[in-house]
Amino acid sequence: MNFHTLAARGGRDVPSASRPLTAPIYQTNVYVFEDMETVESVWEGKISGYVYGRYGTGNHSMLEDLVAGLEGAEAAVACASGMGATTALLLGLFAAGDHLVAARDLYGTTASFLTSEGKRLGIEATFVDATDAGRVLGALRPNTKAVFVEALSNPLLLLADLPVLAPLLERRGVELIVDASMASPAVCRPIEHGATVVMHSLTKFISGHGDVTGGMVLGRKEAMGRCREAMIRAGTNLGPFDAWLAVRGARTLGVRLERQSATALSLAQFLEPHPAVARAHYPGLATHPQHALARRLMPGPMGAILSFDLRGGALAVGRFMARARLMEFAPSFGDVATTWTYPARTSHRRVSDEDKAAMGIGPGLVRLSVGLEDPTDLIEDLTQALE
Ligand SMILES: Cc1ncc(COP(=O)(O)O)c(C=O)c1O
Repeated sequence: MNFHTLAARGGRDVPSASRPLTAPIYQTNVYVFEDMETVESVWEGKISGYVYGRYGTGNHSMLEDLVAGLEGAEAAVACASGMGATTALLLGLFAAGDHLVAARDLYGTTASFLTSEGKRLGIEATFVDATDAGRVLGALRPNTKAVFVEALSNPLLLLADLPVLAPLLERRGVELIVDASMASPAVCRPIEHGATVVMHSLTKFISGHGDVTGGMVLGRKEAMGRCREAMIRAGTNLGPFDAWLAVRGARTLGVRLERQSATALSLAQFLEPHPAVARAHYPGLATHPQHALARRLMPGPMGAILSFDLRGGALAVGRFMARARLMEFAPSFGDVATTWTYPARTSHRRVSDEDKAAMGIGPGLVRLSVGLEDPTDLIEDLTQALE
């Protein structure tokens, strides 16, 4: 072969009698076939295999198998982001004329996606206080296709009453969709409590190291087949390297969340009686308004997120920002480093002051995503920042 052919084709097949312990990254956007029958059989799902990057690679299947196992789901579809997963879900499961009942404190972009793109597609959403099962059930219509809630709400860590909702919705043939990004399957597995669809921003705890943007929708095989087709057509696919990184992160999800949740509980217990703090919000505190339900839905670790109201309001938050050293301001959550955010001016900045007040999101509310640092160092940082 000549130089250019050698450059284009050389070094592709390296024989090995062993296999790698860690899966390789299939950084390819297409696969090669030996005959047409095989191409067609793979395409039609008769035999397993891969065809084209947007449809998925081995890295996607590994990630989907892994998280589906952790969630107890039949099938999963990896997507480019949490919002990519919501897109696949909406396009895959809904049709024009369908109605949706959604939690009023759903992640802001999910809510605006429902009221903008969702509305243009002919899907109507009614927002209710999802902690009140009566209100959720009262909002159902004959054309209600699904109820969409979060396992743990942002930023007040409130819970939807899945054990009450699930059987009633099942009887009416209404899907129960749960965004469990704030919890992760190490904390809460909604399918065990009757959810029919779970979605995740993999960007958060599952990947866990602040280096991946990804999402996933999980549920019944047939429904996920429809979401996968929608994902493929919409092109909201995850890259293979991100899928590989998410698998690597998810390997330690359990130990991370055990440690991060234990630290979160100690910080919440430190903050609750602190004179600068009006109220601490954490499901593991006996004062949490749904503590009993929290124990039922999260029998192990109760999550790495907590929030607290500073008595001094916005002014005190400004001082906290200037003084915090270890805890960095970053409008996301789920990293191994502890970060904090200010919901009134980040996630809920587009919500009116009246609605924020109705939801209990005050000007002094700070949300912490607790990482893997030594709790003593975090308490020391909180002590000096709150002084
Ligand atoms: C609860 C929740 N769901 C979904 C999303 C969207 O995820 P992504 O940013 O990966 O698109 C976020 C993002 O912050 C979130 O907090």
